Amino acid sequence: MNKTIISAKHIVKAYKELQVLKGVDLTILEGEVISIVGASGAGKTTLLQILGTLDKPDYNSETELIINDEAIKSLNDKALAKFRNKNIGFIFQFHQLLPEFTALENVCIPAFINNTPKVDTEKRAKELLDYLGLKDRIHHKPNSMSGGEQQRVAVARALINNPNIIFADEPSGNLDSESAEQLHNLFFKLRDEFNQTFVIVTHNQELANMADRKLTMVDGKIVS
Ligand SMILES: Nc1ncnc2c1ncn2[C@@H]1O[C@H](COP(=O)(O)OP(=O)(O)O)[C@@H](O)[C@H]1O
Ligand SMILES: [Mg+2]
Repeated sequence: MNKTIISAKHIVKAYKELQVLKGVDLTILEGEVISIVGASGAGKTTLLQILGTLDKPDYNSETELIINDEAIKSLNDKALAKFRNKNIGFIFQFHQLLPEFTALENVCIPAFINNTPKVDTEKRAKELLDYLGLKDRIHHKPNSMSGGEQQRVAVARALINNPNIIFADEPSGNLDSESAEQLHNLFFKLRDEFNQTFVIVTHNQELANMADRKLTMVDGKIVS
């Protein structure tokens, strides 16, 4: 039986008087691929940012957020940053690679933040880029790569610290259908090979339906 990797109870979030999340309960098991769908403005990104510890819920007595056995609320900012960098990877709709840096350098950055030695980091970054079919792109800068290649560099960057949870917010929203399909297959391959957990917000029906569980958000709640 797989262990619980994320346990979220009564997650609420308001921006001023706008109640964006209205009580989300969610349990995610290690190695699951979860898709989250729903109309624009439903609160998907807000939920993903909270589960990914980039944002904080409005804590009340019922709220609980436990990731990898850590109660997120009890971590101060420094401990939280360290926790996030070690355990969590992010993939965004727009790759958010740094334009001045090569693919290899972009992939190495989260490991350098973690103080991983340069030699080890570069070795792993090269292995990852090779694994993702980017062997002859490692010294290219983002603007000399295709959209699909850029997004795979972003995947390598998300994986460099070997996190066990990856959050992706509309990762294929900006890709042509062939690159999108390639990226989607990659997520499942990574899960199968490394038992990584994926939580993916997507408008892509095919990807949403490939997931182990598809969650639908409506107006700040998960309805199914
Ligand atoms: N930082 C913010 N400040 C104020 N309102 C926000 C902020 N982030 C999101 N919202 C609002 O919260 C609602 C949900 O946004 P979001 O989580 O981005 O939805 P989705 O990703 O499902 O489109 C929207 O009405 C949005 O305008
Ligand atoms: Mg969004």
